[in-house]
Amino acid sequence: SARYDFVIAANRLPVDQHTNPDGSTEWRTAPGGLVTAMDSVMRSWEGNAAWVGWAGFPGEAPEPFDEGKLRLHPVPLSTKELSDYYEGFSNDTLWPLYHDVIVPPTFHRSWWTCYREINQRFAEAVCEVAAEGATVWIHDYQLQLVPALVRDRRPDVRIGWFNHIPFPPVELFAQLPWRSSILRGLLGADFLGFQRPDDARNFGRSCRAVLGATTKGEKIEWSGADDDRLGGAPRTVRAAAVPISIDAVGLRELADSEAVQERAEEIRASLGNPDVVVLGVDRLDYTKGIRHRLRAIGELYDDGSISPDEVTFIQVATPSRERVEAYRTLREQIEGTVGRINGDVSHLGATAIHYLHQSYPREEMAALYQVADVMLITPLRDGMNLVAKEYVTARHDGKGALVLSEFTGAAQEMPQAYLCNPHDITGLKETILRAISDEPAEKERRMKALRRRVRKHDVQTWAQDFLNGLESAPERPRSGA
Ligand code: G6P
Repeated sequence: SARYDFVIAANRLPVDQHTNPDGSTEWRTAPGGLVTAMDSVMRSWEGNAAWVGWAGFPGEAPEPFDEGKLRLHPVPLSTKELSDYYEGFSNDTLWPLYHDVIVPPTFHRSWWTCYREINQRFAEAVCEVAAEGATVWIHDYQLQLVPALVRDRRPDVRIGWFNHIPFPPVELFAQLPWRSSILRGLLGADFLGFQRPDDARNFGRSCRAVLGATTKGEKIEWSGADDDRLGGAPRTVRAAAVPISIDAVGLRELADSEAVQERAEEIRASLGNPDVVVLGVDRLDYTKGIRHRLRAIGELYDDGSISPDEVTFIQVATPSRERVEAYRTLREQIEGTVGRINGDVSHLGATAIHYLHQSYPREEMAALYQVADVMLITPLRDGMNLVAKEYVTARHDGKGALVLSEFTGAAQEMPQAYLCNPHDITGLKETILRAISDEPAEKERRMKALRRRVRKHDVQTWAQDFLNGLESAPERPRSGA
């Protein structure tokens, strides 16, 4: 079978297969920041590359196929595996644990067993498509055992892993019953990339505390497991921050296009040309701080600081992980709150909150960003948050204002935003009012600096930084597999 010099492994392929009501199927862009970023990197990739991932529906996987220059290699997941490996261990154990236990993580031994099996399946698929000496780039928390599993079979390949989400402090990570297996899995990589320096440091601390590894700056040295049954040969790896970004040139061109400009006009008009449009855009996830944001907005309407005649709030909440209990509960709460606020403060012709539980194509998002005078990004914890970077890039007419939570990776690179602590509702209300009413010159100054930052550090420089890190990793792969 064909072998590829560059192999990506991520839980999802860049596209999801959807079945229409008439039974026909179509491929759509998969959700989330990982796909947004990697998809644009791979579109301009010159070499021969394959992407190993799940096709977005349960059951038998489609045959491998080409999309542009990229080979897509689907990995099958049964309904049971989806529920144990994806909804269970990935999104009901690891996701909340890695996001500051905003909701309590669930620990089930049977989920862990399935997670191990599926990681094995991904590792086998990677080994099958990787050419001798290939570069393998593994992504995210769903595949943390894959680095060591691939290394075991293929000492000839170079292995990188990038974590799109936070890596938790050791005090939280240590709760995980399978903590040492996860760390040994990750130490199979030559280079580990994280969103923030703190995430890389948290990882190093966990390796010290849990495995007895030693760290020198970004280098982590581990002498291997004393007990062979545990697996893991001595390793020296590097763990560093490589913050992810967006395709700034592509988005800017899109935002500039006549179609998007016209659509933006249309949206404004359909809203009744309000003085101020405030926008929120998130996957419907408890990490995103949507409830806190609604609390602040609701109080501002209630106490008369803003009026629905002048200020309209649009919340796009993209459906996500709808079979996981915590997501269902969150949806009910949010929809209840939106209904309550609209019922209390809207009147005919002036709707306070437009709530959209849908996902939209890039063009529509670019138009919405143009319309937003204030962008509200208030996660309680977020690895990066690419919406922050998309907004400042799309809104390149110099106007607009970004309210951004301190607890996002983006805040570290974007200090000129109106930073906020979403837990502090009074502070959040003040920050929103300030972002609405500050002098235009002040807003323009801030937006200009933010835009410059994203332009200089776009997704291509991110990928290059990661690959440079991987290329110069402390250990060399061994040839002749
Ligand atoms: C985040 C994660 C990705 C994930 C995405 C969408 O961005 O880092 O790994 O793909 O959310 O979530 P989903 O569960 O739908 O893949």
